[in-house]
Amino acid sequence: MTQLAVLRAKKISKHFGGLVAVSNVSIDCPPGEIHAVIGPNGAGKSTLINLLSGDLRTTAGEIYIGEERIDRMSVSQKSKLGIGRTYQRTNIFPNLSLFENCFLAAQAYHGTSLRFFKGARAYVDVRDTARMAIEKVDLQSISNRLVGTLSHGEQRQVEIAIALATKPKILLLDEPLAGMGAEESENIINLLSELKSEYAMLLVEHDINAIFALADRLTVMVDGEVIDCGLPNDVRENPKVQEAYLGES
Ligand SMILES: Nc1ncnc2c1ncn2[C@@H]1O[C@H](COP(=O)(O)OP(=O)(O)O)[C@@H](O)[C@H]1O
Ligand SMILES: [Mg+2]
Repeated sequence: MTQLAVLRAKKISKHFGGLVAVSNVSIDCPPGEIHAVIGPNGAGKSTLINLLSGDLRTTAGEIYIGEERIDRMSVSQKSKLGIGRTYQRTNIFPNLSLFENCFLAAQAYHGTSLRFFKGARAYVDVRDTARMAIEKVDLQSISNRLVGTLSHGEQRQVEIAIALATKPKILLLDEPLAGMGAEESENIINLLSELKSEYAMLLVEHDINAIFALADRLTVMVDGEVIDCGLPNDVRENPKVQEAYLGES
């Protein structure tokens, strides 16, 4: 690989008491690529995302953004360095509009609190960032709707917009297609393939068709460990992978 990965983890582990949820996992996310992670329930995929985002601390190993080591930084420090992630509920405000939700996320990125608002210029920067995020997910027509009134599929797009409003270099997506119908899934798949030229992505997803439509490389986890990583078509031929995962679906 010639280009430096946007995000890179070296032999990271996470123990919960005696349980090893993530064991010695190395993974990198090059620019312009979607790196997908699959594996059965309990494999450690969400824990891996939580380690990369900084929501959980590693028990061992190192995480880098570019050349900067970030695994001992706080979530907000990391977010400023360019890690965007989607959350299923926690940072969506259903009683605010799509624009207001993105505005708050952009404000966190720009580091201006309302109390110490630095006047018109800061407002314009934050507003433009929020608008950019909404345009990228193509939801301009509903930017004034309260998020709580949107469909499930639209809300998942809103989560992506909120992550984009923090101007990430990499997007961490944990099952963005969960609970979606076929048409909504296709919208998100198209959206992600459009976004990938601009943002490196780590995608955890159960929908195997989406994985093969989107992934440039594929990592398979079982019981906290990586059992294979490579080009999707090579990985799918690995008998160990078929036995552990693909065979069951
Ligand atoms: N906060 C936690 N405390 C204790 N155990 C956890 C915690 N989060 C996840 N686990 C355990 O770690 C393992 C991996 O979980 P998870 O990362 O959610 O897997 P996946 O997303 O692949 O389904 C599971 O055995 C799960 O029960
Ligand atoms: Mg999970």
